[in-house]
Amino acid sequence: MSRATSRIATPDDGGAVRLIRVIGIGAGHPDQVTVEAIAAMRSVDFFITADKGGHDPLLAAREALLTRHLDVVPPVVAVRDPERDRTTSSTTTATDYDRAVIDWHDARAEVFERAILDHEGDVGFLVWGDPAFYDSTIRIVEKVLARGKVEAVWDVIPGISSLQMLAARHRIVLHGIGQPILVTTGRRLREAVEAGADNILVMLNARLELTGLEEWQIWWGTNLGTKDERLVNGAVGDVLDQILTQRAEVKSVAGWVMDVYLLRKP
Ligand SMILES: C[S@@+](CC[C@H](N)C(=O)[O-])C[C@H]1O[C@@H](n2cnc3c(N)ncnc32)[C@H](O)[C@@H]1O
Repeated sequence: MSRATSRIATPDDGGAVRLIRVIGIGAGHPDQVTVEAIAAMRSVDFFITADKGGHDPLLAAREALLTRHLDVVPPVVAVRDPERDRTTSSTTTATDYDRAVIDWHDARAEVFERAILDHEGDVGFLVWGDPAFYDSTIRIVEKVLARGKVEAVWDVIPGISSLQMLAARHRIVLHGIGQPILVTTGRRLREAVEAGADNILVMLNARLELTGLEEWQIWWGTNLGTKDERLVNGAVGDVLDQILTQRAEVKSVAGWVMDVYLLRKP
């Protein structure tokens, strides 16, 4: 069976079982999509995307990617993304926060299930960067299948993550020789520092809170792979103002800002 086969027949299903493909599409540049991802995009009958309401600049990036790599673009079914309870913040407990996210995943599973059942054939989910890093699609597909109404097999196609983009753009190895690295979120950075981590990759940064880390080295990048990409490197105390200025500039020019950084203790 070839991976690009659009429908998988199994001996005992009396016909075809749907295929669900979770496809990593890289972090913003249409060239940074693998050959395997393009074959997977070509193999599906429709895509499902989450409509977050209002103008979503990432939606435009996904559309550009599809028209660039596909001769015939399958229908893109945009499903309304359920509201997430954002009253849980960094000030609430981890349990409350996790519960709010799990509830949101359950609600998403329900709407994705409906969209799959309402359409025929194999379905693709286009996932920003790599599906293994801070993305809920894999968990939601698992939930959809666990609900039992959608009969499908599924696979995951890796993508180039923003973490790899950061390393490539700064031309660095993300860790010291034979040393570990911790990947975390802006929300949990303090916890990582207090636990003694000294080489930390930070994603999902609502804001940059680096007080007390002025001596640490930072390799920062925003909107990587896009025309608005910016990079800054230096001691936090020396370059933080520059980073904050660039963040604000990119936000006003591109309409969105997504940044990632490596922090290393001197
Ligand atoms: C929901 S997570 C998804 C990560 C994605 N799965 C990946 O592999 O990069 C979104 C976060 O990834 C980082 N990110 C994604 N795309 C980026 C880009 N083009 N430039 C910089 N950071 C990016 C930012 O930290 C952003 O807040």
